[in-house]
Amino acid sequence: MSAHNNNDPKDPIHNQSLNLHFQHILSRGLANPQRRRMLVGSLGLASLSVAGWPTPAGAAQGAASELKFDAVAKSLVDDVVLPPGYEYRIIHATGDALSAAISDFSAMGIETDDFSQRIGDHHDGLDIFFIDEKGNYTDKDTGRALLVVNHESSADAAFLHANGQTSGGRKGLKFDQFGEWDGGERPMQEVLKEINLHGVSISEIRRTKGQWAMVKKSPLNRRITPETPARVTGPVSQLQDIRNLLATRFSPTGVRVRGTINNCGMGRTPWGTYLTCEENFFPYFGRTEGPEPDAKTLTALKRYGLPMKSALDSRNSSQGWHTVSGSDEQMRFARWNLAWTGKSAKEDFRNEANSFGYVTEIDPVRPKSAPAKRIALGRFVHEAAVFSQPIEGEPLAVYMGCDGRNEYIYKFVSKAKWSPKDQGAGTKAGDKYLTEGQLYAARFNDDGSGQWVLLSIQNPAIKSAQSFSFTNEAEVMVFARLAADAAGATPMDRPEWGARNPVNNEIYFALTNNSDRFRVPGKTNAANPRAYSDADGKKRSGNPNGHIIRFKENNDSASATDFRWDIFLFGAEEDAGEANLSRLTAANSFSSPDGLWFSQATKICWIQTDDGAMTDESNCMLLAAIPGQVGDGAAIEVNNKMGTQSGRQKTFVGATLGEGRLRRFLVAPLGAEVTGLTETPDGKALFVNIQHPGEDTKSADLVAERYQSNWPGNKGYGRPGRPRSATIVITRTDGGVIGL
Ligand code: FEO
Ligand code: CA
Ligand code: CA
Repeated sequence: MSAHNNNDPKDPIHNQSLNLHFQHILSRGLANPQRRRMLVGSLGLASLSVAGWPTPAGAAQGAASELKFDAVAKSLVDDVVLPPGYEYRIIHATGDALSAAISDFSAMGIETDDFSQRIGDHHDGLDIFFIDEKGNYTDKDTGRALLVVNHESSADAAFLHANGQTSGGRKGLKFDQFGEWDGGERPMQEVLKEINLHGVSISEIRRTKGQWAMVKKSPLNRRITPETPARVTGPVSQLQDIRNLLATRFSPTGVRVRGTINNCGMGRTPWGTYLTCEENFFPYFGRTEGPEPDAKTLTALKRYGLPMKSALDSRNSSQGWHTVSGSDEQMRFARWNLAWTGKSAKEDFRNEANSFGYVTEIDPVRPKSAPAKRIALGRFVHEAAVFSQPIEGEPLAVYMGCDGRNEYIYKFVSKAKWSPKDQGAGTKAGDKYLTEGQLYAARFNDDGSGQWVLLSIQNPAIKSAQSFSFTNEAEVMVFARLAADAAGATPMDRPEWGARNPVNNEIYFALTNNSDRFRVPGKTNAANPRAYSDADGKKRSGNPNGHIIRFKENNDSASATDFRWDIFLFGAEEDAGEANLSRLTAANSFSSPDGLWFSQATKICWIQTDDGAMTDESNCMLLAAIPGQVGDGAAIEVNNKMGTQSGRQKTFVGATLGEGRLRRFLVAPLGAEVTGLTETPDGKALFVNIQHPGEDTKSADLVAERYQSNWPGNKGYGRPGRPRSATIVITRTDGGVIGL
């Protein structure tokens, strides 16, 4: 969740299935600023000897043994800080023109509806797709490529309007993604801009004399927005049931849906297409009037954070896009209102929110192919999608996280077996692999084992679920969160990106943090073992610094139903005492891991942060790691303490990496999150997204132009002043491989 400060108290919690209602014990009064770095509740560990846990030393075969750059110190500078010998350039920033027909971006607010031809806002997941001289897909580095970038959020749209956002009679507002809208009518031009700054941008980039730059007015440049027509796909036998859940006034048959929104993490298919993952789709919807939905619909609305009551709720949970008055023949505004105003779903937009929350496939090199909603991969708050190692004749697995407090990790296993002949076949290959298969959610056991629990009406726990009466497989897919509740998946500390280690095919997931409303001593589990209070700086408790879990599938099989797991790293400040379970130092301390990505060239595990806990002493960052493998560390017992609460929790921690194998590589500008990563195959150019610099700017400071960050204008990119999200490319001044 990157659209505003991580672990923001306003982050909604939609998983109420756990009956976790505890007294919230405030650490007020215990937090003494003089005792910086002391923990209110300390958290201790004691070694346990557990049979069956091998402890091999050293990095896994195929990876380097040590990183070869000077660690970057923590930084509060308003710039991208890199190790000596490295430099960065900006490829593109929010608002840059993708067409020769429109003006350059002024960063002063342009009230025209041309954001569908500009680089969107909140750069998130990204990837690079090489093309040959004819513009066709190739897996070779031709020096010419399409850069595909997700644009996550409109939470900083205030920077793009001349004087902030407008609601009713109020101007100069900075809306939070989760709503400070006052219920007034929104101006059409502002709303069109906000809608169109979401989605995906595709821009041509070329390498000239070793330097990558965007081809500003390439005919291959294009945008996919929340308004782009998209295909509905799923198992043939369930397609009619799926369409019934998608029927609206715009498409009464449920055949046609529009667009993609809140595009967060991504995935790259083995056949060379891009998966954009729709994360927090719920805050865009309001509900103004009409009768109460039925009880089953209300259960689903609640579980997905959608407005359950008319007017009052909707006013507090959306950007007010549905309030635009005037001509709306294309239903561009009405679609954001879930009110039951018609006689049936075919006459209103009660089902519109069912068209978001998916993994959506895009073919970057075929501009005429429509994005395809991959319903079979489940509807939830998708963060990223990572493939198993493709093996000819075997199914493919896609691992996915649902980013919410106490939400789950999921896996889709394709029915079709992988054939390398499908490389380059575009979304036709996606139709083969991503429409039919089995959906699972992860259960992490306290003994270091795990199971994938089946999400299907064939699962008796789902068929007989009391909380929600599933009538067909389509409902299991579209309401996958409810199915995972019933199936007994393990609630996690906010699953963000996943990644596969190319050395041994183990799967990693960043669990960014979890506040003390749910993660308290006595209510931890082995896979989410911490509950402590950090009295330092931002003073947060629960699991304020997050961790990274990893697992090894049984027999290394994509279709395995069992796995072994351990915790690769625990985030912490280096002087956090016993909370520093991975023995981090000033050179590699971090908090709130989010983006996660392995280099094919160097096997480095890159870790990106979206933090709100240690931002008093450092902006968000990118670290490099050389991991070992599941089971290379130790069984430990964590001694959790939060205020007067305490409890012990056994878990498994990976081998301590030390500064040789874990080092800070980059620190971002003020207020920014670091997210999205890819590289050229030679490992000599690293593309990284810098999202929402200046996001902590207050509404009162907008009109006065007192922004928290002025990047990248302060470094000569565009007009100085307003902050902008951007894609940067990092190279070594000597042209060498990044990180080694
Ligand atoms: Fe969009 Fe969970 O980060
Ligand atoms: Ca994220
Ligand atoms: Ca701190």
